[in-house]
Amino acid sequence: MTLQTLPPYRDRALIGGEWISGTATTDVHDPATGAIIAQVPALGAEEADRAIAAAERAQIAWRARPAIERADLLHAWHALVLCHKDALAAILTAEQGKPLAEAAGEIAYAASFVRWFAEEARRIDGEIIPAPRSNQRVLVWKEPVGVVAAITPWNFPAAMVTRKVAPALAAGCAVILKPAPETPLTALALAGLAEEAGIPAGLFNVVTGDAQAIGGAFMKSPVVRKLSFTGSTAVGQMLYAQAAPTLKRLSLELGGNAPFLVFEDADIEAAADGAILGKFRNAGQTCVCVNRFLVHDKVHDAFVEALAARMDRLVVGPGTHPQSTIGPLINQRAVTKVEQHVADAVARGGKLVTGGALDHDLFFTPTLIADVPADAIIAREETFGPVAGIIRFSDEADAIRMANDTEFGLAAYVYTRDIGRAMRVSGALEYGMIGLNEAAISTEVAPFGGIKASGQGREGSRHGIQEYLELKYVMMGGL
Ligand code: SIN
Repeated sequence: MTLQTLPPYRDRALIGGEWISGTATTDVHDPATGAIIAQVPALGAEEADRAIAAAERAQIAWRARPAIERADLLHAWHALVLCHKDALAAILTAEQGKPLAEAAGEIAYAASFVRWFAEEARRIDGEIIPAPRSNQRVLVWKEPVGVVAAITPWNFPAAMVTRKVAPALAAGCAVILKPAPETPLTALALAGLAEEAGIPAGLFNVVTGDAQAIGGAFMKSPVVRKLSFTGSTAVGQMLYAQAAPTLKRLSLELGGNAPFLVFEDADIEAAADGAILGKFRNAGQTCVCVNRFLVHDKVHDAFVEALAARMDRLVVGPGTHPQSTIGPLINQRAVTKVEQHVADAVARGGKLVTGGALDHDLFFTPTLIADVPADAIIAREETFGPVAGIIRFSDEADAIRMANDTEFGLAAYVYTRDIGRAMRVSGALEYGMIGLNEAAISTEVAPFGGIKASGQGREGSRHGIQEYLELKYVMMGGL
């Protein structure tokens, strides 16, 4: 079966309920083979402006709909996403490369945000505050921010879309989405299913094409009241500056440099299991992936051995092969960066335990480097690939200092069986999210997001919908 015959497949952009083609197109590649699998419209500022206008019109009626009606439509979308889970996973793997089982997991994860925010739509409540005078009442209402622009990355082509679009729609906003150029097909398929679910035209627009032109139109427009962006810190900083003239609200989910601390009292087998999950998900291409392992001297060798044994069981191969657990990296630039990080760590004295080279094409062999010095590039910059570098430490204060010695503050992981240490270290780590004896921290029920150069705002959880709401206060007098 070809991708084109899968029911949710779409390869045109969606503006104001119309599926449109452009005069020019952009190729979409399968990173496993390099083959062109689709072409999508290469649109620009003009189409982005049209989508903004369509969203502005659609939002007027949408914000006035009772919350239960918005919730019902989101529930219908959620049901369709689950119903087409396998087809969506096939589309996702074809354009992103991750193994099919992982892609199916991402679709379930993506659907969980739609369901969660369908539920949250009905819990947007306000406040009544005791007033300063007896003939007054102070009311606080929550209102949708208005038109939202969303820019999503290639590493989670489904979940990052729903984590932004679902809370925006639930709050009564309309959205224009610009998906990553590498992975537009999953986003278009999700938009097609939202349309099929009955979400009115103009509320969920998808504009594919030139990032600078489309992003520029978003940032210039006074109609766009909020931007939600997931991507690199460098682009996040640029968008932050561009948001200033129109004072847009911002949610920025940016880069990370996650430390994974293994203390001398840790359960080493559990830590090694967690390391596989936390490091090799999506071939290491997630912003919460472990970037540096900080391991106590006393357990360094045991941890390296336990991790190496598990890494030997990882299978590098195309996402479409059922046995594959490590797919390709997204492009040659990603491969070059991984190669540089490995070469640097080894040149500085790191000991290559396993891997260290390209398997073939964009497929990099899972790599383990022990005794990495703390000044290696891999310890300072996000690698975004399947490379585990192990750095030694000898006391708790040292481990905390090294973990916090970065501009980033997204996720950190701690393995210890000492409850006092667990609380102490979790409190001392300057990160938005901590996995304590747990590497699977991503869930729709918890607030996802970072501090420092990792961004601002939270996605998911009951806090996620607040990002799409404004407070209005009404002072009632003369009562
Ligand atoms: C990301 O890498 O941006 C998101 C990862 C996640 O939700 O777990």
